[in-house]
Amino acid sequence: MSIIKNIILGRPNGFRRSFQKRFFSENRGGNQEDTSPSSSYSAPVEYGVVAGGSVKMEPPKDITPPDGYEVVLHKDALQDGELTEVIIAGTAIVIANVGGEFLAAANTCPHAGGPLVDGELTGSILSCPYHGWGFDLKTGLCETNPSVQLPIYSALVEGDGVCVRI
Ligand code: FES
Repeated sequence: MSIIKNIILGRPNGFRRSFQKRFFSENRGGNQEDTSPSSSYSAPVEYGVVAGGSVKMEPPKDITPPDGYEVVLHKDALQDGELTEVIIAGTAIVIANVGGEFLAAANTCPHAGGPLVDGELTGSILSCPYHGWGFDLKTGLCETNPSVQLPIYSALVEGDGVCVRI
C-alpha cells in the first residue's frame, strides 16, 4: 500500500511531497503545519542531510574537488550503512557509506524506476524497495538479473568532503 501511495504522492521526503506541502500550505493558505516544538513536525530533508538520520552537515565549501568531481556531502554526514540521495547536474544519485567507503550510483532502479535510496543496504548490496532486486554498488551488477547494470559513479573523500564524479 505504501508503494502505491509513494507512486501517487511521491516519497515522504521527496520533491513531490515538499512541493505539495509548499503549494497547498503557503500559496493557498490551507493545511498549515504545526511546527511548534510540541508537534510531531519534521522539517523537509535538505541537501546533504541523511534521510531519517540525526546528523545534518552541509557539504564543506572550502574543498577543491579533483577535476570532474563535485563535493556532495560532508564525510561525517553519512554513517556506516546509511544511504542518502543527492542531485548532481539534474541526476539523482544515491550515496552509500559501506564500512567507511563511499559508493555512488544512480538512484533510479533500472528495472522499473524504484527509488534506491529507500532500499535496504547489506554490505555493498543495495536492494530495491519495489521488487527487491539487488545491486552491487561497487560494480553496478544486478544479482537478480545479470543482464541489468546499474550506472555507478566514482566517489572519493577529499578533506572533509565526499566527492562524486558525474
Ligand atoms: S523497480 Fe527496482 S526491482 Fe523493480
